[in-house]
Amino acid sequence: MAGRSSFLIVANRLPVDRTIESDGTAAWRRSPGGLVTAIAPVMQRRQGAWLGWPGAPDEKLEPFEQDGMSLIPIPLSAEEVELYYEGFSNATLWPLYHDVVAPPVFERRMWETYRRVNERFAEAAAEAAEEGAVVWVQDYQLQLVPAMLRRRRPDLRIGFFLHIPFPPVELYWRLPWRTELLEGLLGADLVGFQLPGGASNFIRLCRRLLGLSYKGNEVYYGDRVVTAQAFPISVDFSELDVLVREPHIVQRAKEIRAELGDPEHVLLGVDRLDYTKGIGQRLEAFGELLTEATLGPGEAVFVQIATPSRERVDEYRRLRDDIELQVGRINGEHSALGAQPIQYFHQSHSRDELAALYLAADVMVVTPLRDGMNLVAKEYVSCHHDLRGALVLSEFAGAADELRQAYLVNPYDVEGLKRTMMTAMRATPHEVARRMRALRRRVSTYDVDRWASEFLTALES
Ligand code: ADP
Ligand code: F6P
Repeated sequence: MAGRSSFLIVANRLPVDRTIESDGTAAWRRSPGGLVTAIAPVMQRRQGAWLGWPGAPDEKLEPFEQDGMSLIPIPLSAEEVELYYEGFSNATLWPLYHDVVAPPVFERRMWETYRRVNERFAEAAAEAAEEGAVVWVQDYQLQLVPAMLRRRRPDLRIGFFLHIPFPPVELYWRLPWRTELLEGLLGADLVGFQLPGGASNFIRLCRRLLGLSYKGNEVYYGDRVVTAQAFPISVDFSELDVLVREPHIVQRAKEIRAELGDPEHVLLGVDRLDYTKGIGQRLEAFGELLTEATLGPGEAVFVQIATPSRERVDEYRRLRDDIELQVGRINGEHSALGAQPIQYFHQSHSRDELAALYLAADVMVVTPLRDGMNLVAKEYVSCHHDLRGALVLSEFAGAADELRQAYLVNPYDVEGLKRTMMTAMRATPHEVARRMRALRRRVSTYDVDRWASEFLTALES
């Protein structure tokens, strides 16, 4: 079986996106989001191949090597991007799995395209895997792939990891295609979730929907046993820890503070521009602190980095308009000549620039309304060997389960958010260091390597 691999990652996206530069030339750029952040370092250390969409419609490319990884592009037509990616993945499953913070769309055409695209991924994986290979399928865009792949290749060891929350039975139940989707997941030997709550929702669903029996975290499905277990994902702690000590990053962090006018407090938000991230809630709280003069003029600057994301999906378009209106209003009311309290960037940033921003920030504000994990919170912690820096973290981020020493907050409670942001800003260096030390202990112990090796050990055993 020449050219086939013994280890495969199957994900909606390749770790790099095909982009067209202003001069018309094509280039590759790292894809956005936590999945790539987590899996790229694992892949670089293992021999294997990564199957995924190159990020642009109608792009038919041959397999290639990039950043030490073998990549196998799976093409999507413009219609498939619309119905499978923007549609069923991001207008149906994404809001449904995130506690319906936006209304999910249920459309048969979207579902049919989702099924067809999942077949294509399964077929490509079946071709690329050598006899007895380990295949690791990623995330909600590909939930049918495990069963489709097993039908073609019963010799494989198939794992699936869901990067986003798995909803309670009552919400999942709304899905017109609930049975087929659940049976899709049950094609895997091991189904991984971010939190134990996700695994138990899944097991409960297997019982209620399919009448399956189970013992502990093992579900009995025909003549097979499917294990459902939590593996909280993490970041490459040591890579960031080393990077942030480099003189050019330290220098850049100083420059950032100076460019912001050396305020007493630099607050930072870093997110894909997504309605689950609670960006509006944190800006509202910050705006009120200025209006009520709890924060004096020039005392604090809020830097909000919002990576463009899923820009053709209606909810994301509306969100962008809302956030930009809100930023304009707050800055309009509270700016002085040459000094704006909110610095907003609708841009992607390099790893170096992000690391310098993390290092420069006194308070990191992570306030999702619901999030599978949130790697930004863990990245911030990894960047603060100086033990400076306070993390304000939503109780509804998966990361809150582990990062108990963060300043935990309910993002729906504006008064609570204001209070918590102020507590973080006013905390003594001793208190900030005490919390940061404990947070770093956790993230350095449970880093991304440990996540991957625990998952793969469980899958291979
Ligand atoms: P999600 O997977 O929902 O996007 P996470 O917080 O888990 O959320 O992961 C986001 C990842 O994307 C992090 O690794 C973060 O560093 C990266 N990221 C977020 N915003 C930007 C940006 N503006 N530029 C570059 N990388 C970003
Ligand atoms: O972590 C959730 C996730 O949807 C990943 O699957 C994805 O890579 C990332 O967020 C970014 O989303 P998208 O690929 O839609 O830009």
